[in-house]
Amino acid sequence: MGENCRLRPASRADLPVLAALERHAFVDPWTLAQLGAALDWPGAVALVAEDDGGAVGYVLGRVIVDEGEILSIAVVPERRRLGIGRRLLDAMMTMLVARGAHAAWLEVRMSNDAARAMYESAGFAAAGLRPDYYRRPDEDALVLRCELEATASPGPELR
Ligand SMILES: CC(C)(COP(=O)(O)OP(=O)(O)OC[C@H]1O[C@@H](n2cnc3c(N)ncnc32)[C@H](O)[C@@H]1OP(=O)(O)O)[C@@H](O)C(=O)NCCC(=O)NCCS
Repeated sequence: MGENCRLRPASRADLPVLAALERHAFVDPWTLAQLGAALDWPGAVALVAEDDGGAVGYVLGRVIVDEGEILSIAVVPERRRLGIGRRLLDAMMTMLVARGAHAAWLEVRMSNDAARAMYESAGFAAAGLRPDYYRRPDEDALVLRCELEATASPGPELR
């Protein structure tokens, strides 16, 4: 299950790869410039999943005081449903805990069944709604929250 994948911290050198992953995953992707700015935010952290053929997924998050936020997560279409998204999410939650977060938040499109199922399996639960949050198509965002101490697995799995 995605066992041939390694996780490692992302750096600015990865920005073109992260932007390409975004374009493969979203109709409204983060641009390279937006990703670069996000990596500079205080408390920002990003991980890349890669195999011998290159990057297959990434996750971007940040900590503000004691709250964590999952800003984006994506796996290339041909490598989905192999456990890579969940590994990225678990590793990010562990890193958020290590940086002092007690809870993690995120927004997800109401219609994004795959992501919602992954987040639910990781312990996220509905905490609110942001009406008309997304564009192309216009859609509400579901706000999800997860208590981190209870669910994050021990130790970042960065192999
Ligand atoms: C969401 C995403 C990152 C999941 O990555 P992934 O590597 O396929 O996810 P995993 O294989 O780790 O799946 C973990 C769990 O999520 C759920 N899940 C994932 N994809 C699913 C799907 N298509 N349908 C139903 N459940 C799904 C399952 O519970 C799965 O566990 P299981 O395979 O043991 O049943 C991937 O679908 C993706 O990149 N989507 C486009 C970008 C996106 O929507 N990101 C989220 C924005 S909020």
